[in-house]
Amino acid sequence: MQQVDTGDAAVLRSLELYGEHVGEPTTIIYERFFARYPEAEEMFAYDRHVEERMMSSVLMMISDLADHTSTIDECLYWITDHVAWEVSRDMVFDMFEMIHDTIREGLGERWTPEMGTGWHNLLGRMKPAMAERITEIEGYSRVPDLSARV
Ligand code: HEM
Repeated sequence: MQQVDTGDAAVLRSLELYGEHVGEPTTIIYERFFARYPEAEEMFAYDRHVEERMMSSVLMMISDLADHTSTIDECLYWITDHVAWEVSRDMVFDMFEMIHDTIREGLGERWTPEMGTGWHNLLGRMKPAMAERITEIEGYSRVPDLSARV
């Protein structure tokens, strides 16, 4: 593990504190997510176990990025499947924002400016890499437009 900077350390601390003082964020995160994307509940086939497994992987991924166990490039492999399942870029970005919002609101007074900066920087590193991968995969799966041929 490389040296973890203060922003990343604050992200780790926020997750740790949430676990200690609030508990499990999974239900709240999906409530927010399904309120904005009602169609996503059906995409999960209403399977709570899959949702839970996925969220524990997503939270682990954030924590592995924050403690530098993983690089961003190592955290993009799931995007291929998700694009095939028609999970949109907005859904992906919003899910990470909703995780951040849930942790911030849950921590209340325990949330610090360093945590805000740490999350902002971490998501700011992830988003361009995810967007690039999504565009790349969407490009592969696009059906050629035959009507353009003369
Ligand atoms: C909206 C519809 C979505 C569906 C149906 C879906 C479905 C799944 C499924 C079936 C898995 C494998 C879970 C398991 O069995 O362990 C998974 C994993 C995962 N999903 Fe989603 N997902 C969706 C949205 C999202 C979004 C918005 C994100 C953005 C954060 C995301 C990130 C991930 C990640 C990081 C994994 C872990 C991959 C791994 O470690 O193997 N998913 N998802």
